[in-house]
This record gives sequence, structure tokens and C-alpha cells, in this order.
Amino acid sequence: MWEVGPRDGLQNESAILPTADKIAWIDSLTDAGLPFIEASSFVSPGWIPQLADADEVFAGIRRRPETVYSALAPNARGLERALAAGVNAVAVFMSASETHNRRNINKSIAQTHPVLREVTRGAKDQGVFVRGYVSTAFGCPYEGAVAVDQVLRVALRLLEDGVDEISLGDTIGVATPADTERVLQVLLKHIPTNRLALHMHDTRGTALANILVGLTMGVTTFDSALGGLGGCPYAPGASGNVATDDLVYMLEGLGILCGIRSQALERPLSVLRSAVGHSLRSHASAVLFAEGGMECGPV
Ligand code: HMG
Ligand code: MG
Repeated sequence: MWEVGPRDGLQNESAILPTADKIAWIDSLTDAGLPFIEASSFVSPGWIPQLADADEVFAGIRRRPETVYSALAPNARGLERALAAGVNAVAVFMSASETHNRRNINKSIAQTHPVLREVTRGAKDQGVFVRGYVSTAFGCPYEGAVAVDQVLRVALRLLEDGVDEISLGDTIGVATPADTERVLQVLLKHIPTNRLALHMHDTRGTALANILVGLTMGVTTFDSALGGLGGCPYAPGASGNVATDDLVYMLEGLGILCGIRSQALERPLSVLRSAVGHSLRSHASAVLFAEGGMECGPV
């Protein structure tokens, strides 16, 4: 499980959280035992002002040796900042659709590849793990349907350039279980399951069902955001990621060990709700805050 709330979640909040609140929330995620935390983004502060304090966030968080702390890096400048901050992993990102790629990172797909190759090689030279997000893998807010061949082409090129893992993004949450199966059937012919993750936004309520399809097809890494925060400011219509708390509840019920217990998420959920100052999207948090305690699924 790859917790993306401090990055994907906070980049889409209309209010900019104080750095101290971000640090307190990330520390609570660390205490809960989350194995992977995408803590911020070393992107242009002009493009994502919500995460302009990434350097301070990394300097302020408490680290657990067992947890991998990652961040986005879109270019050499981002990598330099990320390495100086002591990340354990970096994530490069691009889209399978041309228009979203241009709106999100101001370059064509062809112009993006060499930039990300430089970031990937620079990170690998320092022994840092690299993820490669392929956004709009199931649909684009500007172009609509995205051909699976194009998703495969972008993913394979990132792997050739040295990324360790591809995370397939349903950026605007349009995928159904049938779409998930169709895309995975093609990608899994070329990419082993242990190098493929799913990053499902839950705009239309299909994210958990899509993850279940991924699980049955052998995928074991899933991105999620506590409370269901998330979205991309350059993808109109994008809303929250699948909620970590809902995903953990489902996995517990299925008897699948993911290293975290539902109850351990209660404190991070409280810290998060106080920090953002609004209710959260997740079902599990609705139960927690309505009843004063989070229900624990069958184990
Ligand atoms: P640009 O404007 O073409 O680049 O942006 P530039 O090189 O002309 O730089 C513009 C300004 O940004 C300059 O500052 C640079 O110094 C500065 P100025 O001279 O104007 O004062 N700059 C930087 N500052 C700090 N750190 C940096 C950095 N780079 C440039 N790394 C760029 C190109 C890629 C930088 C920009 O488009 C950008 O930052 N985009 C990021 C957009 C973003 O973060 N989107 C959300 C994340 S992606 C996502 O959410 C999808 C995902 O979740 C998966 C899914 O759901 O599908 C991952
Ligand atoms: Mg996302």
C-alpha cells in the first residue's frame, strides 16, 4: 500500500495547510506503521503552491527506518531537491494522453521522456527507488478514451529508462472493473505483476471494485489516500483517491495482510480531519466519526 495522501491529497485541497500540520499528520501516518508514504512533491511552487514547502516538510518529519518516504520529481531541479531532502524513493510522472501531459507538465509526451530519463538515472545512481506514474491510463479529461497501446508504450518506455515500478493512474476515476481487466490484460503480458501498481481515483465509486479486479489478476501494490483525499488540479473532474481506511477494511475482510490494522488509522484520520477542517470522503471515516470508534473488519 502506497499512501499518497500527503502529496495527491494535499495538492488538491483549496486551502494551503501550515507546514507544521502536514508534519504532524505525516508523523501520525508513520506511527500507524504505513510502509510507503508519498510525503510531498518537488514540483514548481508556481504550479502547485499547496506543496511549496516540500523541503521543510521533509526536514521536519520523524522517520521510521521501515518506512519508505517518497516524493514527486518532474525534472532535474526536482530531483536535486528530493535528494537533498533525503527521500528514499522518487516518483516521475507523465500521461498517456497528449493533452493532459501538456496541461500538467507543460511538455509533449516526446519532450517529457528525456527529462524523466535524466531524473530516473540520476536517482538510480544514488540508489534511490523510482516509480513511474502513467496518468490518464483509463481516460483523459480532455481527450476522453485513451488507447491501451498508448498506455503500454508510455509504460514500457519508462521501464526502459530504468523506473522500478509503474503505477497506472485512473486520474479522473472513470474506470470500471471491465476497463481495469481490459487494460491489465494487455499490460500484464509485458510487465510482471510485481512491477505494476494501481492508482485509482474514486470519482464514480468504482475504485475498490477495480482494485479487487487487480488483486485477482495478481497485482499487489495499490496507491490510496487516507480519508479519500486527492485529485489533480490539472485534471478537471478528478476527485479523491481510493481511501486507505476503506481499502484496509476491505483487505482485512479478505484476510489479506497489508501490514496495517484499521484501528491504527484512527489517530491519523483525526489529525487529518482537524488539519483540513472539513469532513472526509471515506466510508470508514464516516463510521469512525459518527460512532466515536472505527469498526474493525474480520481478520
Ligand atoms: P514550466 O513552467 O514549463 O517549467 O513547468 P520551467 O522550467 O519554465 O519553470 C517554471 C518555474 O518553476 C521557474 O521559476 C523554475 O525555476 C521553477 P521562475 O523562474 O518562474 O521563478 N521550477 C521549479 N521550482 C522548484 N522545483 C522544481 C522546479 N521546476 C521548475 N522542480 C514543470 C514545468 C514540470 C516544472 C511544471 O509543469 C510542474 O511543476 N508541474 C507539476 C504539476 C503537478 O504537480 N501536477 C500534479 C501531480 S501529477 C498527478 O497528480 C497525477 C498522479 O497522481 C497520478 C494520477 O492520478 O494519474 C501522479
Ligand atoms: Mg493521482
